[in-house]
Amino acid sequence: MPLLDVQNLSVSFPTANGQSTVLHKASYTVDAGEVLAIVGESGSGKSVAMLAVMGLLPPTATVTADRIAFEGRDISHLSAKDRRRIIGKDISMIFQEPIASLNPCFTAGFQIDEVLKQHTDLDKKARHARALELLNDVGMPNPEDRLKAYPHQMSGGQCQRIMIAIAMACSPKLLIADEPTTALDVTIQKQILDLLARLQAETGMALIMITHDMGVVAETADRVIVQYQGRKMEEADVLTLFENPAHAYTRALLSALPENATGDRLPTIDYAADYTGEQA
Ligand SMILES: Nc1ncnc2c1ncn2[C@@H]1O[C@H](COP(=O)(O)OP(=O)(O)OP(=O)(O)O)[C@@H](O)[C@H]1O
Ligand SMILES: [Mg+2]
Repeated sequence: MPLLDVQNLSVSFPTANGQSTVLHKASYTVDAGEVLAIVGESGSGKSVAMLAVMGLLPPTATVTADRIAFEGRDISHLSAKDRRRIIGKDISMIFQEPIASLNPCFTAGFQIDEVLKQHTDLDKKARHARALELLNDVGMPNPEDRLKAYPHQMSGGQCQRIMIAIAMACSPKLLIADEPTTALDVTIQKQILDLLARLQAETGMALIMITHDMGVVAETADRVIVQYQGRKMEEADVLTLFENPAHAYTRALLSALPENATGDRLPTIDYAADYTGEQA
């Protein structure tokens, strides 16, 4: 039984010209302890898919699915709010913009404490100890001091470490990392990705990594889903995908890797020629 099992998830939004479907019957499964990468160009529906699972899309969104199950329990029929209540402790998500995701009005320590209060029955002293332990885990220098800092007093990399600490606070079974490093500079990106990989390995949690970056996929993922224009184009284990990409879009993504670049212009994608119909 997969940890997360999502079948035929569709999402649409109202527009001036009627409903616009941004995700077409996409299915996702993740096993316990597995690292799944979801790749695809901007606007291909990667974030929308995971936000739909989490019940975090705005009320204007229409979400349908045959099944959204966590640990075998189907939660697709529940309201977004009830779904969050049920999976909130077991699935956490970190977002692209670390600074925007933290509340600017509260210290890092306060924001970590809120999560611990909500999801654990630790007393104040134990929560403080746990917060310090979490900051140590995410490699934060001067943890005692950083707990008292407000988001604007920290760098982007430090804010993202706080976000990761918050996400790890209740020891989730699944962490969804939605392009967790795009807002950071390159050396920090590497540190944050290494950190996520280490936490995944140490805790054995499952990880869904949303990224544009095939280099990150090669380093971290067990299995890869490639999306294009709101459709799942391809799904394979990471070695198969790199050795034998089935779709033109995947080949184009791979050829954009620095080691494969020819110095020529990027290839264009003949989407229609390669698209073989609705993917399972
Ligand atoms: N709240 C919303 N209202 C209307 N349309 C939306 C909303 N959120 C997303 N969309 C649309 O859904 C489509 C998919 O967006 P999504 O954010 O999932 O893309 P993405 O694959 O995560 O892209 P990126 O790599 O840029 O993060 C886009 O066309 C986007 O404009
Ligand atoms: Mg996105």
